[in-house]
Amino acid sequence: MNKFTILLLGSGGRESALAWKLAQSPKLEKLYIAPGNGGTTQYGTNVALSPLDFQSIKDFVLANAVSMVVVGNEDPLVAGIYDYFVADADLNGIPVVGPSKAGAMLEGSKDFAKEFMNRHGIPTAEHLSVDASTIEDGYRFIEKHQPPYVLKADGLAAGKGVLIIPDEQEAKSQLRAMLDGMFGASSSKVVLEQFLSGIECSVFVLTDGDSYKILPVAKDYKRIGEGDTGPNTGGMGAVSPVSFANECFMRKVEDSIIKPTIDGLKQENITYRGFIFFGLINVDGNPYVIEYNVRMGDPETEVVMLRIDSDLLDLLEGVVTGTLANRQLNIDPRYATTVMVVSDGYPGSYAKGKVITGIDSVSDSILFHAGTRRADDGTLLTSGGRVIAVSSYGATKEEALQKSFANIAKIDFEGKKFRRDIGFDLK
Ligand code: AMP
Ligand code: GLY
Repeated sequence: MNKFTILLLGSGGRESALAWKLAQSPKLEKLYIAPGNGGTTQYGTNVALSPLDFQSIKDFVLANAVSMVVVGNEDPLVAGIYDYFVADADLNGIPVVGPSKAGAMLEGSKDFAKEFMNRHGIPTAEHLSVDASTIEDGYRFIEKHQPPYVLKADGLAAGKGVLIIPDEQEAKSQLRAMLDGMFGASSSKVVLEQFLSGIECSVFVLTDGDSYKILPVAKDYKRIGEGDTGPNTGGMGAVSPVSFANECFMRKVEDSIIKPTIDGLKQENITYRGFIFFGLINVDGNPYVIEYNVRMGDPETEVVMLRIDSDLLDLLEGVVTGTLANRQLNIDPRYATTVMVVSDGYPGSYAKGKVITGIDSVSDSILFHAGTRRADDGTLLTSGGRVIAVSSYGATKEEALQKSFANIAKIDFEGKKFRRDIGFDLK
């Protein structure tokens, strides 16, 4: 059996869940997490490296005999970490789980993603991409469509680059503001979209570029407030499975979205060996792509990993060796839920460094640390807006949620906040 020394890049709840799952693998020799957080030391060794500092990553990989790199967040992928490894004679044999820089454009440029979908007949909202020189065309697009108006920064904007605006004049002035640099260079091009009405879900696929496996479907809850109100966050909770993503819906997803995406990448000679996240919306029973991400979702990973009843590292070995078709993926039939405990004020400004108590009395849930760190004396402190994802299994969604809530009651820090209605819109 091949054993792997893995370097996992990232520091959030997603990386905690990936680390938790990888740590269970008999194929794991050693796990490093860069930079990790106050909880990832349960599964491996934290390394103080930035996922964007490729030279330091190279030095670490070579000095520590790392044999596989797993990239949790999108930034290093969009910056080309896959190509950096392939182009370097010393790193060339060390696989990176994730797409090439060209493949990462599916997330790195919304215009690229829309054009890709149009080339391959993949259902998505009608769109127009504009820059400062074609803003008048943008105004015409807005006039031609019904409200609300959807405006998206083309490039990465840390999840903040999408505006949905009810008023036509306001949409036009926000379009100008975006092109004038509201999101820096990432909004020097703006994608205008037809508004689609429906319920969303997140579909995850692992691919070796040829075959693929569909991971458990999840739904996340992005708004800060109960009933999906208030500003968007990185995600306040998630549920898997998703009641409306039934066999009929998933057959449409596979035939009209997943297969054409994998085939399209192949046709266009875009190397892609990693996770694809399809952000979907169900419009009257038909799936449309809202966005692609080139990584797993957060907090969806904190439920998806619970429902993978196979060795994740064996699947990743299949991804990097082009043998995914021969690997086993079993899905746990139980429900999994996660509820994110956040700092008061998030997603706006919030305090850090608050002492977290009670995590040792948690039972029957899994804590995936996100914004936590250990002080020198070992005290667990908050260090981010999203602090800990509390994940649980249940025979029903309600049973799983009850466990998460019961354990959240045991955890405390000043300014602790969470949503009590995760899963409210699902059967
Ligand atoms: P994105 O970053 O592209 O996923 O957009 C963020 C959120 O905006 C999505 O999760 C949707 O809730 C919403 N959204 C984006 N595009 C559309 C659209 N064309 N129609 C309706 N809602 C949308
Ligand atoms: N939960 C949505 C995302 O990870 O982008």
